[in-house]
Amino acid sequence: MTGQFGQNRQKTILRALAGETLATPPVWMMRQAGRYLPEYRATRAQAGDFLRLCYTPDLAAEVTLQPIRRYGFDAAILFADILLVPQALGADLWFVTGEGPRLSTVTAQRDFDVLKPADAIHDTLAPVYETLRILTRELPRDTTLIGFAGAPWTVATYMIAGRGTPDQAPAHVLRETDPALFDALIDRITQATIDYLSAQIDAGAEVVKLFDSWAGSLKGAAFDRYAVAPCRTITAALKAKYPHIPVIGFPREAGPAYEGFARATGVDCVALDNSVDPLWAAAHVQVDGCVQGNLAASHMVTGGPALVEETRAILRAFSGGPHIFNLGHGITPDADPDNVRLMIETVRETAQDSA
Ligand code: CP3
Repeated sequence: MTGQFGQNRQKTILRALAGETLATPPVWMMRQAGRYLPEYRATRAQAGDFLRLCYTPDLAAEVTLQPIRRYGFDAAILFADILLVPQALGADLWFVTGEGPRLSTVTAQRDFDVLKPADAIHDTLAPVYETLRILTRELPRDTTLIGFAGAPWTVATYMIAGRGTPDQAPAHVLRETDPALFDALIDRITQATIDYLSAQIDAGAEVVKLFDSWAGSLKGAAFDRYAVAPCRTITAALKAKYPHIPVIGFPREAGPAYEGFARATGVDCVALDNSVDPLWAAAHVQVDGCVQGNLAASHMVTGGPALVEETRAILRAFSGGPHIFNLGHGITPDADPDNVRLMIETVRETAQDSA
């Protein structure tokens, strides 16, 4: 079966996203362009710092292509960061080496009032669109180009706290103490994300993914309101303009709330983190369509027979439906590049053995 995204027979990710069960699932990896690769570290050193790398189209395209050249992944993900959107809305953003991102905070109405309107983001983000245009020219024909953005809740947690936090407490406090301000911030990010992903699609992104890395800290009604609803709004707006572009949702650590997420939001595929049991997900999530995941990124550090066994177990669990093989979270800088190759070979060989 090939559905609405399956026209390009060579792009296996588009076939899986259209609902096709493939003997060999396509494979790519979150953070596949990253510090575990010596060629990435070299280009990053050439750029000087991480944000300059994101905003220099030739170099951002170069690091996007590096893992494609080295491994032949089925997809390339745009090299950028989810925190470019707050920056484009007017927040100050910088990265502290070894610690992570820092932003000016939004905790009161006056902080919100100085943010730019959603449609003013493109001046800042124009280099990202240029990166995508370069990639549409330079990628191999059968490699799918994935664009992305952070989901509004996750982006808001950084804008409110001004940094990553273990429990997202500052965002939870604001949503309890000033729900009107919090909702206005979520709405602004939601609109900016629609504009941003639309521009990415116009520049050549063939699939878009929403990263909701901190969805797991929302429960019950709060999950529905701040993880499900913004994802549904963004997906519906994109589908209205670009019905042929598949959307992947990643409500990381959503646990049982992964069940029904695709139906509730309209996404074409749900990305699973490594805490999810693949057999459970096959029965409760894959019944609604394509799933992506979910090998623990730690296997890219440790390798060996455990990597092979776990990769095979995931392939077996998801063999009855549409599946894109990936990690459950981004690969870490201490990973061994040879283990990435072992993972890809295992995915491609195991599928052949059972064909
Ligand atoms: O997956 C890819 O290869 C595409 C590029 C990409 C990056 N960040 C590049 C990056 C994507 C999709 C992201 C998403 C992102 N960024 C998320 C959501 C996914 C997740 O990991 O939960 C979040 C929360 C961020 C914010 C962010 N960016 C943090 C917290 C950090 C610091 C932590 C770290 O790993 O250093 C970053 C920096 C960052 N973004 C790096 C990369 C390659 C490392 C920067 C460097 O080279 O020093």
